[in-house]
Amino acid sequence: MNQSLQEKIEKITGSIHKTNALDEQGWTSEVRRILAADRSYLLKSSYKEKYREWLKEEAKVLKKLSGNTVIAVPEYYGFIEEKDGDHLIMSFEDGMSLTAALTKAASVTERKSLIRSFGRFLHEFHEKEPLDIFKSEGDWLQDQLLKAQYYAENGQCDGNLSLLENLKADRPSPVNQTMIHGDCTADNVFVVDGEVRMFIDVAGMTVGDPRYDESLAIRKFMDNTEYVTAFYEGYTRYRVTKEEFQYFDEGLYEFF
Ligand SMILES: Nc1ncnc2c1ncn2[C@@H]1O[C@H](COP(=O)(O)OP(=O)(O)OP(=O)(O)O)[C@@H](O)[C@H]1O
Ligand SMILES: [Mg+2]
Repeated sequence: MNQSLQEKIEKITGSIHKTNALDEQGWTSEVRRILAADRSYLLKSSYKEKYREWLKEEAKVLKKLSGNTVIAVPEYYGFIEEKDGDHLIMSFEDGMSLTAALTKAASVTERKSLIRSFGRFLHEFHEKEPLDIFKSEGDWLQDQLLKAQYYAENGQCDGNLSLLENLKADRPSPVNQTMIHGDCTADNVFVVDGEVRMFIDVAGMTVGDPRYDESLAIRKFMDNTEYVTAFYEGYTRYRVTKEEFQYFDEGLYEFF
């Protein structure tokens, strides 16, 4: 990293002893562990316009949640905007993504137990009274469809405009809005001591349609009945229909 960035980071962390790129890298960012005098930090950097916007949103969310005891997320330490990239500094957490934990798990029983804990974790989150910082008057799905339109028109996603027209015309009937993660895949929940215990990658966290989280949560093991059953042993508040799953996973998610 260049000298000027290092100096800006050290204003936050104190002098840096070492940095390492993590084995598990994201799609939209570069993640590094920073060892400083008192503790470790996670440095998450993005360079492309769209992903810089997301990183900035993530920084806003983490900052607003800083010190809260209701939602488990990494602690916010700072956000640095440079000419060619942005950098978010948060606490380094010991653990791994659920995706990594499922790969590493030695048995089906262990995998089921991880997935059950994911269901339970998401259930508890969706059941919580929304925090004031997330309460908004807007219609979440309407906002997502507008963003989707922008990305589609600018060639920044897989989804196309004809799919988008279908999604606009054929919205699922509304349900109670809850706090949502907003990109709730197995990549974006963190396993500590054999259980899903934390959200990461929280740029999309807001109040919205919990069926979006639920659909993205199960997408990875949708065709494995045992795993889906394990998820719903933990997530008992609602079960998406096939149509709802398709709307969110094969529809809306194509644009993000
Ligand atoms: N606070 C943290 N502590 C430790 N490791 C972390 C932390 N945040 C992220 N990681 C690691 O970095 C990886 C990528 O993080 P993250 O999901 O935030 O990046 P991303 O680029 O936005 O991902 P994607 O775009 O693929 O969803 C995670 O899988 C995890 O292994
Ligand atoms: Mg991620």
